[in-house]
Amino acid sequence: MDELTAPTEPEAKNQLFDLQEEWTMQDMTFILFGATGDLAKRKLFPALYNLFLDGKLPDSISVIGLGRNYFPDDIFQSKVESALREYSRRAVQTNGLNDFLAKFRYCKFDAADNDSYQNLHELIHDREIELNIPQNRLFYLSVAPQLVEVITSGLNKSGINQTTGWKRLIVEKPFGNDLKTARQLNERLNNAFNDEEIYRIDHYLGKPMVQNLESFEFANPIFGSLLDRKRISNIQITACETVGVETRADYYDQAGAIRDMVQNHLLQLVMMTALHLPEKMTAKEIQKQKITIMESLRPIYKDKMEQNVVRGQYEAGEIFDTPVVGYKEEPGVAASSMNDTYFAARLFIDNPSWSGIPFYIRTGKRMAIKSTKIVIEFKNKVKQTDALPADGITPNLLIFEINPNEGISLMVNMKNPSSKQFEPTYISFSTNSEVQPEAYELLLFDAIRGNATFFAHWKEVELSWQWIQPLLEAFQENTLPLHPYPAGSNGPEAANQLLQVDQFKWW
Ligand code: BG6
Repeated sequence: MDELTAPTEPEAKNQLFDLQEEWTMQDMTFILFGATGDLAKRKLFPALYNLFLDGKLPDSISVIGLGRNYFPDDIFQSKVESALREYSRRAVQTNGLNDFLAKFRYCKFDAADNDSYQNLHELIHDREIELNIPQNRLFYLSVAPQLVEVITSGLNKSGINQTTGWKRLIVEKPFGNDLKTARQLNERLNNAFNDEEIYRIDHYLGKPMVQNLESFEFANPIFGSLLDRKRISNIQITACETVGVETRADYYDQAGAIRDMVQNHLLQLVMMTALHLPEKMTAKEIQKQKITIMESLRPIYKDKMEQNVVRGQYEAGEIFDTPVVGYKEEPGVAASSMNDTYFAARLFIDNPSWSGIPFYIRTGKRMAIKSTKIVIEFKNKVKQTDALPADGITPNLLIFEINPNEGISLMVNMKNPSSKQFEPTYISFSTNSEVQPEAYELLLFDAIRGNATFFAHWKEVELSWQWIQPLLEAFQENTLPLHPYPAGSNGPEAANQLLQVDQFKWW
């Protein structure tokens, strides 16, 4: 290559990204169990539609929706259309809509009935012939947890999963209820699909800002020297919500914040934050690193639990000036429930990159605001002088805002020309969420192409259950206090103390 045609530096970088891994899109069938459910309506149909608008679906794709009630195809297609009109991030366009809807077929399905598998098999097969597409089959289980094993075993017995093309299975959480049941579930799924074929979805891994973490250090070498235990004092991961248990008491009162948010989403955020990736890596290498992080996560045994873990439950309070009931008064929740709606903990990753740096994590329902973010607090070596406010200078912070706003900001101290005092100032970048693809869009696109980077590998899931297992037992035995907090607050006071003893505070 002569000098004139040599790529400029940014071009060379882009080529590098493109060359990383080749994911190919092939014609296929998408089989959706739970097609009349909430997730399909709110997330999956809109995700498929937005991929369609972006030309990110295979040229030929057959979509088969399954549900317990009977509908003719045209009624199902009109349900899909209504879902798009209500939930798609981009307005439905007349142009192309019929082509999109024509891809959908419906099949009444009862997971316990052999004939249902037979009918489904025939429909998949007929459509493959009609569209002249290979037997590439992506199964999506958006169903109650107890049906996951039943359906995968039915797919196996009926031979639907024996294809001449590829096959993949996407499973939603919860992946088991504890370490033992998660292992059992995995074994059973492995009877029908091998590990590379199972895509365990964690929608937090589909959030654009979370995906950004993987390449942040690589794409911003200046941060490489900062994201290091010599400079960082602590890391705080928050996933707070204003909503309460809503209509999900049946599930949530058994799961609690620990199973609903910590075992999956929060521990995935810990892994993604702790990834040290100054170089671009393959999906396999990223998975390997995440597993190493989980293996280095220091266990919290019962004797250390009270110092390191805070669990809470919301009481009556106000959300945006509107009175709301306490958790125990929520429909479907027993008045004696000891379930956790709040969880905070201090974690340590005992590896050379992170040893000695506390990671604080917290999640709660019915909190003052909805906010998912990662805050990296840097060490503050400035000496106290007269030029500083009484409570000292604010430490520099690097903040990844994940939800509801998405962006990155760096908090630096600037001198106010009038008061001559240092004041925290934010250098911020935020993205326009309307143009950002939704988590499910990114994840479906990856699964269609066979890219498992942002899905939870079995080993990660197993190690997460293993890590929280002693906590589950302590919660079950009620050996840990359950701190009440008013709805609309920032959680129990005990969670503030968790940081105060280390001379930090939640940001
Ligand atoms: C789900 C939990 O996985 O995540 C819900 O089951 C929770 O209880 C939700 O509300 C939060 O997701 P997000 O994307 O709104 O932060």
